Amino acid sequence: MSPTISHEVLRAAFGDRLQLSAPLARLTSARIGGMADYFVEVRSSTELAGVVSQLWELDLPYVILGGGSNILISDAGVREVVIHNRARAVRFKEHNDPPSVHAESGVNFGALARQAAQKGLSGLEWAAGIPGTVGGAVFGNAGAHGGDMAGNLQMAEILHPQDGRQTWKLNDLDFAYRSSVLKREHSKTVVLAAELLLEHSEPEKIENAMNEFLEHRRRTQPPGASMGSMFKNPPEDYAGRLIDVVGLKGLRVGDAQISQLHGNFFTNNGAAKAADVRSLLDKAREEVSKQFGVELELEIELLGEWN
Ligand code: EPU
Repeated sequence: MSPTISHEVLRAAFGDRLQLSAPLARLTSARIGGMADYFVEVRSSTELAGVVSQLWELDLPYVILGGGSNILISDAGVREVVIHNRARAVRFKEHNDPPSVHAESGVNFGALARQAAQKGLSGLEWAAGIPGTVGGAVFGNAGAHGGDMAGNLQMAEILHPQDGRQTWKLNDLDFAYRSSVLKREHSKTVVLAAELLLEHSEPEKIENAMNEFLEHRRRTQPPGASMGSMFKNPPEDYAGRLIDVVGLKGLRVGDAQISQLHGNFFTNNGAAKAADVRSLLDKAREEVSKQFGVELELEIELLGEWN
């Protein structure tokens, strides 16, 4: 059901910051998706908190777009207000014991890992090459190479509908594999910033570990436009292995394709539609269920209007 949003109400609330009919594909790593009817960009966590609070007050639905890397936006586009999170302030506290970094939720996580490495601060090597934002990584407990957000997070600044800006400790987020309480409960709370624990190390050692992870990525994951892993790994198995064994690698629908290199990556080879990707998702789920009795669960989030 499409929510009905009054253009005038939004214009009164956001003035010139409100854009109408904004194309979204360019803001996604897969380069897929329709338009946002209403689009507002925020450039700090304070602005993010302000816009979200106004929308809560007006009781209007919204979605927050970060790095656009773990999502599939429908071809029909998004009827909710899209908030583009460009809150990107970073503050390293290298003289604290232990050292840490405070990053706003719109910061690119892979870039943050590189900055930490340059300062001789270890802990985020696993995040090298992750295209999403810190906020998205907290929300979905992003992980790779044996590390994950739950292993780094000291606290998160969260905006809560009733209680305002709050500090949540690691335990409050109740992280699980690729999940947090925020993701599981579809809660209205919003990640504004995170404080991540680091430790001093040799820059060269950090660099080597990062390069090894990046090399593994280059060897096993396709370059170019994709959404990262499409499905979560089922218990004690791998979605990529299952999609591979059922024989679906290389399958194409339009310009969307299940990667030849990795079964859990779907690529946009040019002008793929969200509907093409959706067909591939359905096919993969169906075949894996039929042949292995395993129900694959999406890791990506579907946004926008789907029929
Ligand atoms: N495999 C196959 N065929 C394939 C693909 C994989 O047999 O087509 C096998 C591999 O040989 C390996 C196993 O499946 O034995 C796992 O594959 P891989 O090492 O590529 O890791 P993954 O479990 O598919 C996870 C994360 C990635 C992360 C990598 C590297 C999930 C869903 N994905 O992938 O994270 O980069 O490990 O650590 O947990 C993401 O979440 O978006 C993401 C890219």
